[in-house]
Amino acid sequence: MIFLILACSSDPKDNNFVDESSTTYYQDIAPILASNCVSCHRDEGTAPFPLDNYDLAKTFGTLIEASVINRSMPPFHVDNSGECQTFKHSLWLTDSEVTLISDWVAADYPEGNIQDITLPTFEQEAFNTTHSVTFEPYEASFANSPDDYRCFIVDPQVTSLSYLTGFEVLPSNRDIAHHMILYAPTNASALSQAYAKDEADPGPGYSCFGDPGVENRMIAPWAPGSDQWFYPQGTGVVMEENQILILQMHYSNASEDPLDSTTVNLNIQPEIGQELYTEFFVHSDIEIPPSNPEHTEIVNKKIVNFSGYNGPLELRAMGPHMHKLGIAGSAKLIREDGTEICLMDVPAYDFNWQRVYTYTEPILLQPNDRMEIECVFDSSSTNNTTYWGDGTNDEMCLMTVFATLPE
Ligand code: HEC
Repeated sequence: MIFLILACSSDPKDNNFVDESSTTYYQDIAPILASNCVSCHRDEGTAPFPLDNYDLAKTFGTLIEASVINRSMPPFHVDNSGECQTFKHSLWLTDSEVTLISDWVAADYPEGNIQDITLPTFEQEAFNTTHSVTFEPYEASFANSPDDYRCFIVDPQVTSLSYLTGFEVLPSNRDIAHHMILYAPTNASALSQAYAKDEADPGPGYSCFGDPGVENRMIAPWAPGSDQWFYPQGTGVVMEENQILILQMHYSNASEDPLDSTTVNLNIQPEIGQELYTEFFVHSDIEIPPSNPEHTEIVNKKIVNFSGYNGPLELRAMGPHMHKLGIAGSAKLIREDGTEICLMDVPAYDFNWQRVYTYTEPILLQPNDRMEIECVFDSSSTNNTTYWGDGTNDEMCLMTVFATLPE
């Protein structure tokens, strides 16, 4: 895929889209940056530098080109071209847009006719908060590593069985808050294990790389870019009476101020149209030999006992999860009659952007369907075989799956 794009852009004959010399900032590049980058790359945004004017776009030109070619930016890491499904709220450049950016860089950044750039508005609507969780200010520690993963046990004060339909994440220190994931411990023993970890670790919360280290349902993922997230219309994730949650923060970028206290506002409703079930589709039997720039792990199995359910399901959203060696992945559905359906193509996985991707249209999962997931790892930096585990030096290969019962 990546090679294809490179091949296209380096051979002008193959490029039936544009004459290089006619690609200019105001006519071609500014609109692409405005709709795909400026929500984060602006003065008040979460990205390290703005991309909303000619001078900066030119200054960062070669970096911009490299990031869009290798698909590390925008941080939307599933193929949304239509070859393997499409997703809601996508930030995905078409191959032609990537080519335009390359052409513009190759032509030495022509400015074109100066005109005002129309930027979309980035104002967020007020979130309808019914419950809220937070933790006492925590001083992130970067003494031993550039990253600090911290789990806080929080009580949203849910007084009866109800459903989480959306959430809003408000870190107090955006310089270091890199992602937040809310987990629900699956049972009482998982919860007491979490309390034990908290007890054993001084200061607020406990250290928890990758995931909370106890059996859980992942219910709410957040990465910078959009503070609010809603489950598919009419759906929600179950909150048991007195549900206790684990709020995981990933802090990075040691800054002068390591203090953060993130608030997560929740919208919890007593009733919803359809319950959203979450489950991990896991390939835990992984064995990644050292010094291999491209080691692939594949698992293919039936989707059984999904949150305790065995009938047909509608797949609504999925999120790939690996640790730091993860570089790419994919998932497909194999029907009983052998028909294959591409479910997700992740050309450039980035551990720093843990995201869940919502399908434009739900996909029907039949009881005898199989799912195959593929995880690609780069183990060049390791000296030993890497196995499944929670630790910084362990790996994972899984999809977090969100599904509803068919209507
Ligand atoms: C959702 C927010 C967001 C969007 C949208 C986004 N960026 Fe970024 N960008 C970031 C953040 C945050 C960083 C800092 C590095 C990191 O955290 O990955 C970054 C870093 C970069 C870098 C530095 C090098 C690198 O690859 O990390 C470049 C270049 C870049 N972005 C270009 C772009 C371009 C071009 C677009 C649009 C086509 C874009 N970004 C869209 C948030 C965003």
